[in-house]
Amino acid sequence: MQSEMRILGLETSCDETGVAIFDKNEGLLAHSVYSQTDIHQAYGGVVPELASRDHIRKSLPLIKEVMRVAKSTPKDITGIAYTKGPGLNGALLVGASIGQSLGFAWDIPTIGVHHMEGHLLAPMLEPEPPSFPFLALLVSGGHTMLVYVGKMGSYEILGESVDDAVGEAFDKTAKLLGLGYPGGAALAALAETGNPDRFYFPRPMIDRPGFDFSFSGIKTFAANTISAHPESKADIARGFQDAIVETLTIKSRRALSSTGLKTLVVAGGVSANRALREALHAMASKENAKVFFPRHEFCTDNGAMIAYAGCARFMMGERDDLSIHVLPRWPLA
Ligand code: KG4
Ligand code: ZN
Repeated sequence: MQSEMRILGLETSCDETGVAIFDKNEGLLAHSVYSQTDIHQAYGGVVPELASRDHIRKSLPLIKEVMRVAKSTPKDITGIAYTKGPGLNGALLVGASIGQSLGFAWDIPTIGVHHMEGHLLAPMLEPEPPSFPFLALLVSGGHTMLVYVGKMGSYEILGESVDDAVGEAFDKTAKLLGLGYPGGAALAALAETGNPDRFYFPRPMIDRPGFDFSFSGIKTFAANTISAHPESKADIARGFQDAIVETLTIKSRRALSSTGLKTLVVAGGVSANRALREALHAMASKENAKVFFPRHEFCTDNGAMIAYAGCARFMMGERDDLSIHVLPRWPLA
């Protein structure tokens, strides 16, 4: 195995251009994220073609900036990791093309990384990382999953959402509340000011065995409540968030006790949610378990998690061939 490993990571799966440099011995040297939110806001959602075009515009300047901060020249970089999927086809192709082309030009290997593997390894970038095996609760805009992580690369999906992802439910409800796109964080902020005893939202699927989730019913309940009580936005946001948080907490507790695992890793955009973090901390301490989150900026999409996951994959001896191809739908297991 190589003793020196310094990986350039590129994330372009959706509407964030993320770039980072992770060194196996020195850790994370630099990272930067450019968010396209302002571009897509007017359309109320991500416009794939505009996302691709902006990744093309932003990638090389960001790479140059991150290389400068990491005091690295192309000669110092030993490999390139890019997000190969899942995500938007065109957006993924930008990162794959740039990553493969730089690898070709610099004569170094490249590796295509699974976006959700990146998310679930993000807490590894913290000073006190979790150790394997662990239970991962992945909560993003596109996925909601409970995963048994035996070791690096070994993922067993215990349960997932049968309809909307939790971030998607946050975003759709936020839109109905007039909070813009993506509105998850804005909804969370509004919920903090709401009355928890005003509206009681359903907790879907908690009476059923198993670890699957369903969030479209909560979203529909929110839509109906908003039409009936348009003046009660903060209280509705609070009821909605409490239902989501409790559902995720109950299922995570069950998965911990049925697997016997004592380590819970929470990652993906919604893991930034303060109420969720508090509820999972409280549950874990009752269960004698420990819970790990990424730092705030690495909850949502970023290049650091891709650089880290790529480094781990390179250490397992993996690398791409020269073909450029991406996997917009790519199961994690
Ligand atoms: O992981 P991520 O950046 O992108 C995907 O891979 O999907 O997750 C983005 C999602 C969005 O749905 C966003 O609204 C949600 O994470 N989000 C939040 C919060 N911050 C971001 N949802 C609830 N509370 C937050 N504080
Ligand atoms: Zn993501």
